[in-house]
Amino acid sequence: MTSPETSRTAKKKQDMQIKIKYMEIDDLAPAFHLGEKLFTLRAFPNLYRIWDEYEIIDFYHASSDYCFSAFADGKLVGFLLGTVIEKTKKRKYGYLVWTGVDRDYNRLGIATKLFDEFKEQCIKEQVIMILVDTQADNYQAIDFFTSKGFGDAQDHVYLSLDLSEEINESHHKRGG
Ligand SMILES: CC(C)(COP(=O)(O)OP(=O)(O)OC[C@H]1O[C@@H](n2cnc3c(N)ncnc32)[C@H](O)[C@@H]1OP(=O)(O)O)[C@@H](O)C(=O)NCCC(=O)NCCS
Repeated sequence: MTSPETSRTAKKKQDMQIKIKYMEIDDLAPAFHLGEKLFTLRAFPNLYRIWDEYEIIDFYHASSDYCFSAFADGKLVGFLLGTVIEKTKKRKYGYLVWTGVDRDYNRLGIATKLFDEFKEQCIKEQVIMILVDTQADNYQAIDFFTSKGFGDAQDHVYLSLDLSEEINESHHKRGG
């Protein structure tokens, strides 16, 4: 039997008008603030990249053909920032670096629509493979990417060295 929650989501999905567009300058601030909510310090999806305003500006500046915004109810509710890496003239790789959807709009197919646009753009540009990465415990993202056909997960280990104490010590030594 279908649960009331499932049928509510199905109804919302049917009624919702979702519009996907190439990202525009006016989208940068709302997308940045949405990212701030989703990519918190406790839950970095990409451990080695930091979500800040330069990140979104850099993508918009360097690879605007691969950056998309999603609108529903007259506001920005999702985004995707990607790029293409050209290894040789014949081998292009798409790299989906950031994607996020407002929690109130999850499971309505918005990230799917953003991804479909990105993928279509990649195909147009003869990209042979799309790469993504995320933290091993970001199950939401892993389930999402798996649902889009991604597989062959490789293990990578990211290590970190905290330099804050050494910074403090050198600050004290300098009499700061
Ligand atoms: C991952 C994320 C982008 C998915 O957005 P979304 O719009 O809710 O995804 P969709 O509605 O298009 O989901 C498509 C499919 O992905 C899978 N999926 C998505 N979210 C899921 C979840 N929380 N649990 C299990 N499966 C999930 C399902 O198979 C879903 O299909 P279904 O709803 O028909 O079952 C969103 O949860 C998010 O913003 N997460 C935080 C940021 C993040 O981790 N980004 C990814 C790394 S940069």
